[in-house]
Amino acid sequence: MRKIVIAMIAALIVATSCTKKNTSGNQRMNVVVDSILSLMTLEEKIGQLNLPSAGDFVTGQAENSDIAKKIEKGMVGGLFNIKSVAKIKEIQKLAVEKSRLKIPLIFGMDIIHGYETQFPIPIGLSCSWDMDLIKQTARVAATEASADGINWNFSPMVDIARDARWGRIAEGSGEDPYLGSRIAAAMVKGYQGDDLSANNTIMSCVKHYALYGAAESGLDYNTTDMSRVRMYNEYFPPYKAAVDAGVGSVMASFNEIDGVPATANKWLLTDVLRTQWGFKGFVVSDYTGVSEMVNHGIGDLQTVSAKALVAGNDMDMVSEGMLTTLAQSLKEGKITQEQIDNACRRILEAKYKLGLFADPYRYCNEERAKKEVSTPENQAFSRSVASQSFVLLKNNGNLLPLKKEKTIALIGPLADAQNNMSGTWSVGAVTSQSITVRKGLEEATAGKGKIVYAKGSNLFEDAKLEEFATPFGKTLGRDNRSSAELRDEAIKIASRADVIVAAVGESSEMTGEASSRSDIQIPDTQRDLLKALVKTGKPVVLVLFTGRPLAIKWEDENIPAILNVWFGGTETGYAIADVLFGDVNPSGKLTTTFPQSVGQLPMYYAHKNTGRPLGDGKWFSKFRSNYLDVSNDPVYPFGFGLSYTEFAYGDLKLSKSEMTAADSITVSVDVTNKGQRDGSEVVQLYIHDVVGSVTRPVKELKGFQKVLIKAGETKTISFTIHNEELSFYNYDLKFGSEPGKFEVFIGTNSRDTKKAEFELK
Ligand code: BGC
Repeated sequence: MRKIVIAMIAALIVATSCTKKNTSGNQRMNVVVDSILSLMTLEEKIGQLNLPSAGDFVTGQAENSDIAKKIEKGMVGGLFNIKSVAKIKEIQKLAVEKSRLKIPLIFGMDIIHGYETQFPIPIGLSCSWDMDLIKQTARVAATEASADGINWNFSPMVDIARDARWGRIAEGSGEDPYLGSRIAAAMVKGYQGDDLSANNTIMSCVKHYALYGAAESGLDYNTTDMSRVRMYNEYFPPYKAAVDAGVGSVMASFNEIDGVPATANKWLLTDVLRTQWGFKGFVVSDYTGVSEMVNHGIGDLQTVSAKALVAGNDMDMVSEGMLTTLAQSLKEGKITQEQIDNACRRILEAKYKLGLFADPYRYCNEERAKKEVSTPENQAFSRSVASQSFVLLKNNGNLLPLKKEKTIALIGPLADAQNNMSGTWSVGAVTSQSITVRKGLEEATAGKGKIVYAKGSNLFEDAKLEEFATPFGKTLGRDNRSSAELRDEAIKIASRADVIVAAVGESSEMTGEASSRSDIQIPDTQRDLLKALVKTGKPVVLVLFTGRPLAIKWEDENIPAILNVWFGGTETGYAIADVLFGDVNPSGKLTTTFPQSVGQLPMYYAHKNTGRPLGDGKWFSKFRSNYLDVSNDPVYPFGFGLSYTEFAYGDLKLSKSEMTAADSITVSVDVTNKGQRDGSEVVQLYIHDVVGSVTRPVKELKGFQKVLIKAGETKTISFTIHNEELSFYNYDLKFGSEPGKFEVFIGTNSRDTKKAEFELK
């Protein structure tokens, strides 16, 4: 019987591809999926909705695992985070040789910022503001991963994040919906290419839908409750941009939204996602997102699993709530056969689109894996991407770039920490390939200058805090000497040097999942180290590792040069040397606001005015919107980043002073490179809708161009403003513009801008 069934499916696939001329791709897919569905039992359909945790398969033993038995019974739709062709092939074989219908599995992974070749963590990558570059990193990640057996990627993470206490701010593109949307689209296109069935493209999964980054108190998994006007204008755009770019799947978020967990939120998963945005792919829950709804308090496992299905969640990651309870819910009339069929159909469609029915081993090619993973070209690309993600925050007296001929004291717990270089969520990384700061500087100065090194401090004074911050074997090797001893050693070493490079900040796992912080300063003992280093009187360059905006007011006031390097991926150390020694001129710009203090959070440039705004340049004024103990200013605003050269902006020129919704206005500005070096500048366009039917942000990014300007050269940069850039969702959630006055700003960051005005008639 089994042979007959398989023969039928195979015949169907062949038949449908043979009739290519007469049928569209979708029709062919429908024929195949319909026929498979018609052969499936209820249990097999429910099995497709199951995405269990794979555990750690050892090649050659998969056959005997519990999962293997489930796969053979058709109780598994896919698996995730299994690395290597050999393992994946062995498991796929179970599905296509031992299960009744031989339906192939889909293999997912969190390829968040590169596969083996690691790129900067997403918040860092976003600081490049370079959409082609970002798309290319996704392309390289897809090529490497698909060569190694993976065909489904839990990326991009596009959650808008404005509260730096939330550790997962590291995994996204920052605080701005416009920039976030552009990056979301670039990444989806990079992963999926033009043809999902090609063996070097993979299905993207945009996450975490929705509003996961707005968790109260920056506490991971926490409640979100917000107005729909805000959702549509400020938090939804990047998810929608991913859908518009054709993303194949969507991951529901862990959090509740307005009282209903996202995983069971029908308004979110069906009304908005499918009906309003036209999403055609499948929705997967987050890891145990289904069963966690028991803790949310909306029912027992059977109830929450049924609710998830009814809401539009098609696949259950890890809980096995759907697998174990949906048949019972069907019997009790709590769900319908059609709902199960729809969910199953969407998963089968994804497998069809990936070409898995035609060849389940399409992504399992050892030769490709050997040739295409972690190539020297990819590593070189990663080095260049990393240097473009760094943000130069300060450079008093042009301390940077440094001369290679000097003696440099390299100090700090992150200076020689190979296992921390890739950053959080680096599932595919091979840690031994990462380049440390020490190695990068030593190679760059070999035969010219000298690097002297000391650790200088542990990560935290308290060993317990250090343990929390260094899980997954990413220890920094705690030094048991006292802090004073460690500092003294560092100062002694620094006394022999011309300049100090302090590599300090957060460990890689101080951001990412479940890594919220209530204090966002550089950890205590490292701050003490910095103070001691500054006291030596030697010039100090702070190389700052972090996955979130930190509160570094003291550092800004006391340290002459600060280079924020995030976590730059495999080639971090080389890229840092490239920038510190001036072989690369930094051009990164912040995509999150750096506050003065944690008490200012959430903090973002595109805020609304209150009825009592403080006014520019003031700190405090009674009965105004302000704090007693800190001004309303950030330390570094959104869009901020210095270069080794300097750019001057001329006044704005508008093509006209009025426009209608049917036409457009061009605004242009002359940008001059006043320095001695060529440099890239991100020219930023912001708009303010002065009067709206609902209140409008004081400024919103609506365009940007990254341009290379040669030393001494002036470039005229033009932006065309259409009705689209002036439109927003009003109280009735209708998208459109409203006539009236608009202010337009262009500048080097969100604070330092030139301004003009026009009228929309
Ligand atoms: C995370 C997701 C991730 C999933 C699978 C969850 O804990 O929230 O972002 O894709 O695990 O690894």
